[in-house]
Amino acid sequence: MKSYSIKELLNKQPIGDSVEINGWVKTFRSNRFIALNDGSTIHNLQCVVDFENFNENLLKQITTGAALKINGILVESQGRGQSVEIQATDVFVHGTADSETYPIQPKKHSLEFLREKAHLRVRTNTFSAVMRVRSALAFAIHSYFQQNGFYYMHAPIITGSDAEGAGEMFRVTTLDTKKPPLNDNGEVDYTQDFFGKETNLTVSGQLEAETYAMGLGKVYTFGPTFRAENSNTSRHLAEFWMIEPEMAFYDLDANMDLSENFIKWVLQYVLDNCKDDLEFLEKRLLDEEKSKPQHERSEMALIEKLRFVVDNNFKRVSYTEAIDILKNSKPNKKKKFQFPVNEWGVDLQSEHERFLVEKHFKCPVILFDYPAKIKAFYMRLNEDKKTVRAMDVLFPQIGEIAGGSQREERLEILQQKINELDIDEKELWWYLDLRRFGTAVHSGFGLGFERLVQFSTGMGNIRDVIPYPRTPQNAEF
Ligand code: 4AD
Ligand code: MG
Repeated sequence: MKSYSIKELLNKQPIGDSVEINGWVKTFRSNRFIALNDGSTIHNLQCVVDFENFNENLLKQITTGAALKINGILVESQGRGQSVEIQATDVFVHGTADSETYPIQPKKHSLEFLREKAHLRVRTNTFSAVMRVRSALAFAIHSYFQQNGFYYMHAPIITGSDAEGAGEMFRVTTLDTKKPPLNDNGEVDYTQDFFGKETNLTVSGQLEAETYAMGLGKVYTFGPTFRAENSNTSRHLAEFWMIEPEMAFYDLDANMDLSENFIKWVLQYVLDNCKDDLEFLEKRLLDEEKSKPQHERSEMALIEKLRFVVDNNFKRVSYTEAIDILKNSKPNKKKKFQFPVNEWGVDLQSEHERFLVEKHFKCPVILFDYPAKIKAFYMRLNEDKKTVRAMDVLFPQIGEIAGGSQREERLEILQQKINELDIDEKELWWYLDLRRFGTAVHSGFGLGFERLVQFSTGMGNIRDVIPYPRTPQNAEF
């Protein structure tokens, strides 16, 4: 007897064969029909038990959530809703699930409720579909870079410098927090800490990736990053995964081309390889949106939206053009923006980004050449001395999905910037070395993996696209 996953069995359909499957009970109807799922696919397999031939006590143990092994013959199904089913000859209960206490019952649970049951939520259709898409996306990302001449680089998780300045950091220490050693000035003496200095969890692997690009040519990181920002939004996590490609000899235009090409390729991969899950998630989203007012519903269904992004060019717009559009926009004139746009130089808020993408251009937008003042120190200064070669990729519903730049490769200009910002040059000695020895034009960007998963699955809250979300006041599990 051959053991199959449900996915294999549904693909192969070895009618008439004796087969074995394992999985968890979704439902058990009329003491006869078990809908079994093993996580390999969104589809359940119907297993028919002839209750006359089975022990009554065994049948009582077949409840939602129980883990079973079922042996039987695969037959064409008489019923509607499935093409094949198993005529069970043998049922073995791996483990029961008490219906009084098992929280995942066959009814609609809210996403908020399921967040509190994060260890069990992957057994629901929604979360199993999301997590399969997440896995496929991760694979697609590696495939894209590996096929295009990039090397996978592992940036350190623990860092000794906060040069990036991308966000608040989490300290890493082994000092006794109740009685830390103090130095002569009465401050905590980090020379006595594990690493002999202050260390933190990384906010970005970019600076280290730059060093590798300047030796391996084209590299990418794909790993966890940490931000201790107190942002309680549907787009922010304290621990999220970031993909950061970094390329020697790429200018900003090449960087923009890469970001667009890359995002389209991975979305196409998901369209090609996650059809069943996307169809399920599309229905889920339509259902969810029924309860929303018309103007809040998306104009396109999930799959159509993914296709649209793959098939259309992203619109490239300079910050200066964007400010003009925003200044003259209806919501700005009618004072509908929480942050009015009245002068060049202001940072764009997500309401502005979403207006540009969802209302004005109606497609993904890459904004570039931002004011130097609102961007990080390492971005390359333009001739106008006011703007830098920065870019942000903006998506409908998500807002900023990726951000990057051409990097400042000129030593003096970089040093000047570092001094202006009061950053300790000594801390960045190794980063500045890149500009001392064989410096060259180079560029890169960072893409938030969970935001990409959100876009691909249509999930509204970032907490629902990562197995165990880490957010302010929440690190359960
Ligand atoms: O814009 P960010 O802060 O850029 C950097 O960290 C650069 N060093 C990247 C680079 O050029 N290599 O972050 C990049 C992306 C954002 O566009 C967003 O998609 C995501 O990371 N991101 C977050 N995702 C979830 N939760 C958060 N708190 C995030 N902060 C940023
Ligand atoms: Mg950014």
